[in-house]
Amino acid sequence: MCFGITTLLLLITGRYLWIGPTVDDNWNSSFLKDSSLNHSLSGVSQYSHCIPGSLPDSLAKLYELYDDVETFVMFIGYPRSSHSLVGSILDAHPKIIISNEYHIIEKWNIYRDIALKSSGMSKYLLFYNLHSISTWQATFGSRARKPIFIDDHIYSYNVPGAWQGTFNGKLKVIGDKRGGGTTMELSEKPEKFAILKELNEILGIPLKFLHVIRNPFDVISTWVLRLLNARLRVNDGKTKINSSWAVDNAIKSFFELIETNERIRQLYGHAVLDVLSHELILKPRETMKTICTFIGVTCNEDYLYQAENIMFGKPSHTRRTVVWTEEQKQRVLNEMKKYSFLQSFSSFEEEQ
Ligand SMILES: *[C@@H]1O[C@H](CO)[C@@H](O)[C@H](O)[C@H]1NC(C)=O
Ligand SMILES: *[C@@H]1O[C@H](CO)[C@@H](O)[C@H](O)[C@H]1NC(C)=O
Ligand SMILES: *[C@@H]1O[C@H](CO)[C@@H](O)[C@H](O)[C@H]1NC(C)=O
Repeated sequence: MCFGITTLLLLITGRYLWIGPTVDDNWNSSFLKDSSLNHSLSGVSQYSHCIPGSLPDSLAKLYELYDDVETFVMFIGYPRSSHSLVGSILDAHPKIIISNEYHIIEKWNIYRDIALKSSGMSKYLLFYNLHSISTWQATFGSRARKPIFIDDHIYSYNVPGAWQGTFNGKLKVIGDKRGGGTTMELSEKPEKFAILKELNEILGIPLKFLHVIRNPFDVISTWVLRLLNARLRVNDGKTKINSSWAVDNAIKSFFELIETNERIRQLYGHAVLDVLSHELILKPRETMKTICTFIGVTCNEDYLYQAENIMFGKPSHTRRTVVWTEEQKQRVLNEMKKYSFLQSFSSFEEEQ
């Protein structure tokens, strides 16, 4: 496989255009020492989202909080494919913490520290970091009721009255939402696949991957708009961006990410769940139920109802804002045939 110029292009634009400033750029752990945050373990109410709390402040609490975690969740996918929404809704579940964009693969060197490893605290440090970021995001970030810092997203990801940034009783599932970025990093540096193994060893619990897949024509078109900084120009519903070069490059980059995700699927088998983003939007209840079963939590009616309200909508067909030649469409369709998880997309014109 060739990880040449297109990956580089993808990664460079990814850093600056697709992802934008990420929350962890703004994240400052000194916030967590703020005395207004309530560290009480018992006082968590369902309305604690005003000041999400419950970060452990002693080793005893650390063990108590994190020792019942059964599943570690990672996202894989493609930039701009509804991961953030799924991550936020999972974080709103009372037994789940999913931080947004901590980016474990990129930060992994922290966890290779010899002293840390021999202390046996790696798992706890990682969980603490993800937990505190999730709390930070529900307090100040894009998941807050009134966000102070918004990271390049058009939506607010607040789930009113739910458990974002915190949890109730025993925490069962923890993880990080960094989908496109994780796949990009593994595509650019395949040697980092070793990190997944190290992560698994340190945690001693199963890793599970949510592979969120949006219609390839829409993903590629969205990247083209980003690359050419043309998102606003197509808002009139008439303008089409015509750049054959940009479409060709985005197609190449897209299938490099597809290959990486296919490799993860082969390595991890049933620990990878393919989630079609149009199903999240068109059938949110069923799709969230499938995700809940996969990661091993019960999702009650209230939770599913809320997820449904937030997610239900119409998939956006970005592909219609970009000029595609027949040859380009056919090339993508031919490539798609190689991957079982792309079989539900069968033409350029379909509604999905
Ligand atoms: C984090 O906060 C501390 C204390 O308020 C400040 O000195 C430091 O510059 C901040 N770091 C960043 C990266 O903002
Ligand atoms: C923290 O929680 C405790 C117990 O629920 C409560 O009594 C206290 O007022 C809270 N403190 C703050 C600053 O919210
Ligand atoms: C797109 O641009 C090419 C030349 O670069 C031109 O031949 C083609 O007609 C254009 N297509 C549309 C739909 O504007």
